[in-house]
Amino acid sequence: MPDGGLWPVIRKAYMSVCVYLGGVQKSRLLSRRGKGFFILKGEAIMEGEKKKVILSGIQPTGVFTLGNYIGAVKNWAAMQEEFRCAYMLADLHAITVRQEPKVLREQILTCYALLLACGLDPEKSVIFIQSQVPAHAELGWMLACYTQFGELSRMTQFKDKSQQHADNINAGLFTYPSLMAADILLYQADLVPIGEDQRQHLELTRDVASRFNGIYGNVFKIPEGYIAKTGARVKSLADPTKKMSKSDENPNAYVSILDKPETIIKKFKRAVTDSETEVCFREGKDGINNLMSIYSAVTGRTLDEITAEFAGRGYGDFKAAVGEAVAEYLRPVQEKFARLMADKGYLESCYRQGAEQAQRISSRTLEKVKKKIGFVQ
Ligand code: TYM
Repeated sequence: MPDGGLWPVIRKAYMSVCVYLGGVQKSRLLSRRGKGFFILKGEAIMEGEKKKVILSGIQPTGVFTLGNYIGAVKNWAAMQEEFRCAYMLADLHAITVRQEPKVLREQILTCYALLLACGLDPEKSVIFIQSQVPAHAELGWMLACYTQFGELSRMTQFKDKSQQHADNINAGLFTYPSLMAADILLYQADLVPIGEDQRQHLELTRDVASRFNGIYGNVFKIPEGYIAKTGARVKSLADPTKKMSKSDENPNAYVSILDKPETIIKKFKRAVTDSETEVCFREGKDGINNLMSIYSAVTGRTLDEITAEFAGRGYGDFKAAVGEAVAEYLRPVQEKFARLMADKGYLESCYRQGAEQAQRISSRTLEKVKKKIGFVQ
């Protein structure tokens, strides 16, 4: 290339045009997106560069339970101001159990609307559907090759689900934690807000990431779990030794966040407790402990304050109060959900935008991984 003559002038003019166009593009995106991840030419640019990155997910296998809400999604919404957040509907995970196509499609839409109704804001966070971002399946496969059979065999969720679905113990159910590791590591997440039941999967993610880094250098950030103090393990109302789960066959065992107020109150009235009468948090009082934790999470009162409030009043009053407090707590979520479901066009624009953003962010890590492994670029 000639160095003198017109060439420097052309190069300078070309650079100026690039900078100008970059600036226009950037300001357009910035003004459209408000706060949050800003994506420019495959880069994630963030206001206040030092904010930590959050990634979490939930399966669209039914309407979220009160457990999902208190244990996870409520905290996700609160984290949006302080962190760079990416939240996803884990639909690839959902097919480890057989799903009816029509029902799954409806549930994905419903659950996406629920995430927004619970306070997730597409102007602040990247909110996407996992199957719309191919990098997850790709890295999931690669990480499965760095996860040991013995590690996966120890996962309690695998053991539980294989018992529940003895006729369909598929390979996806077994390698599920490698896919979950991919979800987290693709975004170089610092923190992963989860309920207690996902702790073991996060530990495995950390092990796999450290192993990969040990072989190839510093590729993945090692994520920390973020488990809330109250509500990290909301228990079933029918059997307080088990977690509250949206796949429970007994609908009285869980509160769905779209249950009508009267249903919620009825379910709490029926909640299994014990043969004593004193409302206090003590070992062996699983049912009451669970109700006290729920009441504490929705009212912000401490366990001592709750004990004082119900001293001498018995379980009947207490259960009614918990039901009413939960119904009131969920009312704004339910109202917002109804508004969102009436505007499918808006929902679609949100999940498309979320997928584009997630694809751009995750492809950076994926490319790096492929290069390290030795694939031809
Ligand atoms: P999932 O769909 O079972 O649950 C979503 C979130 O809700 C929490 N949770 C609970 N918290 C308190 N009490 C309960 N009874 C209760 N039930 C559920 C879960 O701990 C979880 O935080 N594998 C995940 C989805 C996932 C994911 C990820 C999560 C896929 N990729 C990456 C974090 C990061 C799952 O099945 O969550």
